[in-house]
Amino acid sequence: MRVLVTGGAGFIGSNFVRFVLGVRADWRIVNYDALTYAGNLENLRDVEGDPRYEFVRADVCDAEAAARAVEGCVAVVHFAAESHVDRSIMDSAPFVRTNVVGTQVMLDAARRAGVRRFVHVSTDEVYGSLPLERAEERFTERSPLAPTSPYAASKAASDLMALAAHRTHGQDVIVTRCSNNFGAYQFPEKVIPLFTCNLLGGQRVPLYGDGRNVRDWIHVEDHCEALAAVLEGGRAGEVYNIGADNERSNLELTRALLAIVGKGEEMIERVADRPGHDLRYALDARKIREELGWEATRSAWPSALEHTVAWYREHAGWVERVRSGAYRAYYERQYGER
Ligand code: NAD
Ligand code: DAU
Repeated sequence: MRVLVTGGAGFIGSNFVRFVLGVRADWRIVNYDALTYAGNLENLRDVEGDPRYEFVRADVCDAEAAARAVEGCVAVVHFAAESHVDRSIMDSAPFVRTNVVGTQVMLDAARRAGVRRFVHVSTDEVYGSLPLERAEERFTERSPLAPTSPYAASKAASDLMALAAHRTHGQDVIVTRCSNNFGAYQFPEKVIPLFTCNLLGGQRVPLYGDGRNVRDWIHVEDHCEALAAVLEGGRAGEVYNIGADNERSNLELTRALLAIVGKGEEMIERVADRPGHDLRYALDARKIREELGWEATRSAWPSALEHTVAWYREHAGWVERVRSGAYRAYYERQYGER
């Protein structure tokens, strides 16, 4: 079956493309990506020769390109988004454009072409923030949407567009909401690759505020496996939380990274807090476990974190090219200015 993956050159999208080509012999993947600062085809160098893989450089807001690309596809897995909270605080315009308008364009294109299923990849951040005190509380799929950052607000809007397409047009749409991912090929603006790359390079790590904020960490391949399960067995019009029950404060995470690289607390630089910084995310993922039998198996702590740090250590060339932006010039030559 032919599956269109938007945002397949980014962190989770590239892991998803590699994962499904490895485990689903009958899938063909069209990677539809605009190659923004976060898109990097080097993430997929090992699969680019696979005859089941093709790449289209296009924008999710381009309705004509979307209509051409979805032709003949059985499913769309929609990852493409502006994904970094700090960037959304500095400038929210690209978030509304790509995350809201881009999702509407892809939904319409898929529906008009008769694509059988559309999986919209979303985030636990649409539920807002939990208090630190009530440790037993978790977000379920029925929790109200209460996004706080411009990024989260744009994702919540896109979730509602996806669910509205199901309700209004009977389109087969599923929304997934996953917690914080970690693993290989994550752009080093997000906390785990940023702190890891800084420490490996002898630089200090900028910890926001008091470091008590909690995130619920899942290995990216567990997320990819869950998405394949949802695509194949989920129910149309439903929302599925995806999480690994792995809550850590940022200070705890930072100390774990320091222990792995053998460095001390003097490497922590306390910096001003992120405006509107959500205190805690925690997901109740019983629904996907009970309905689809999926369970996280690759997120165990600290071994999964150790493997991730080892990956960044072993891929110093990738880190250097991403941090310097050297790969961008190649894309401009190959595909033209964006
Ligand atoms: P990323 O920033 O690493 O990658 C985003 C990809 O989308 C890039 O390849 C980029 O080139 C592409 N893209 C951006 N704008 C585009 C546009 N206008 N047209 C076409 N392509 C465009 O993001 P990620 O961390 O891999 O996240 C992927 C998805 O998963 C996002 O929808 C995000 O909201 C969601 N998500 C992420 C996490 C996480 O922890 N990273 C957790 C839950 C959900
Ligand atoms: O929860 C899922 C979300 O996780 C995804 O939807 C987002 O796309 C993804 O970016 C991520 O959002 P966060 O804001 O949680 O991730 P980030 O890596 O930016 O930050 C994680 C925590 O680390 C957060 O509490 C802020 C803190 N932090 C982050 C950075 C970049 C720091 O203390 N210092 C930093 O330099």
